[in-house]
Amino acid sequence: MASFKKEFKSAEDEKILRNAPEEKDEAGDFDNPVRPLSFDDYIGQTKLKENLLIFINASKKRASSLGHHDLDHLLFFGPPGLGKTTLAGIIAKELGVNIKITSGPSIEKAGDIAALLSAVSNGDIIFIDEIHRLPKPAAEMLYPAMEDFKLDIIIGEGATAKSIRISLPRFTLVGATTRAGLIPSPLRDRFGFTARLEYYDADELAGIVIRSAKLYGIGIENAAALEIARRSRGTPRIANRLLRRLRDYMTHLKKDCVTLEVAKFGIESLGIDELGLDANDILFLKTVIEKFGGGPVGIETIAQAMNDEKDTLEDVVEPYLVACGFIQRSKKGRVATELAYRHFGLTKEDSLF
Ligand code: ADE
Repeated sequence: MASFKKEFKSAEDEKILRNAPEEKDEAGDFDNPVRPLSFDDYIGQTKLKENLLIFINASKKRASSLGHHDLDHLLFFGPPGLGKTTLAGIIAKELGVNIKITSGPSIEKAGDIAALLSAVSNGDIIFIDEIHRLPKPAAEMLYPAMEDFKLDIIIGEGATAKSIRISLPRFTLVGATTRAGLIPSPLRDRFGFTARLEYYDADELAGIVIRSAKLYGIGIENAAALEIARRSRGTPRIANRLLRRLRDYMTHLKKDCVTLEVAKFGIESLGIDELGLDANDILFLKTVIEKFGGGPVGIETIAQAMNDEKDTLEDVVEPYLVACGFIQRSKKGRVATELAYRHFGLTKEDSLF
């Protein structure tokens, strides 16, 4: 029977799953009331959804002769908050199987992979978030498991150590990453389908906000939903978070629904600009423009100047600035574009102080 909950089968399992992404809001918490549970409720990523449905339906058809589905391993990549975990949950539900959720950083050693895989039931989906952060021995343990559904276990130590091969039930691994380039190629090559999740357009995000508002029981004007959509960096997780904050501003302003006025007041109070750039995005751009003459400047240098983590800048901040055409990546470093200057009412000459 399909289950949208993480399954804890043993203490060992529990340990492996302890750092699963449940504490992230929209990302990993299947109790989240606005998380779509079916493809029908999932707005956006249209082409990807179409493809996934084709693969799922075909594998369900084959299941009638095979006795089980044989959906290939899937890899989703793209910036955080675009719905990678949600898709994995929907796939499990469509297939009528359980999903086990874990993440690269919570797996410390090859034995953790062995414990995880030996607890799967036939057909289960295993979801590994941040799969690029799997330690090498753990990733290597996955290769024969993904390819042949076998586990190579070393028993004993030193000269008496021997390797035994055990068979696993069939499972489908869904990997998610913000950085496909950091996945070792033997691991990447073992996925049967790889897809990039794209930023959502404003109409899609407005649809998501209206749906979420209904589920949260928040009244909202269409114009306010569109305003949220335009200021959410193309990201459902940010749109839903902004909706919840605007509910607070609605109460503060003694309104009974999120009007356009409430939305504008709240968004401005939160320091989000007309394009949805937040304080961190703005600091990134201003650092490149004002401290480094518009670049090229290396990401480590920017991170140091901002007193921020290089990985966060590369995974979260930079991709949207690149998508907006504000930052270009070159071999020599990051460069602020003409568009970035114009966004602040500046020209290139302004940074040549
Ligand atoms: N909530 C978060 N992501 C969503 C999506 N893609 N569709 C509908 N609701 C969502």
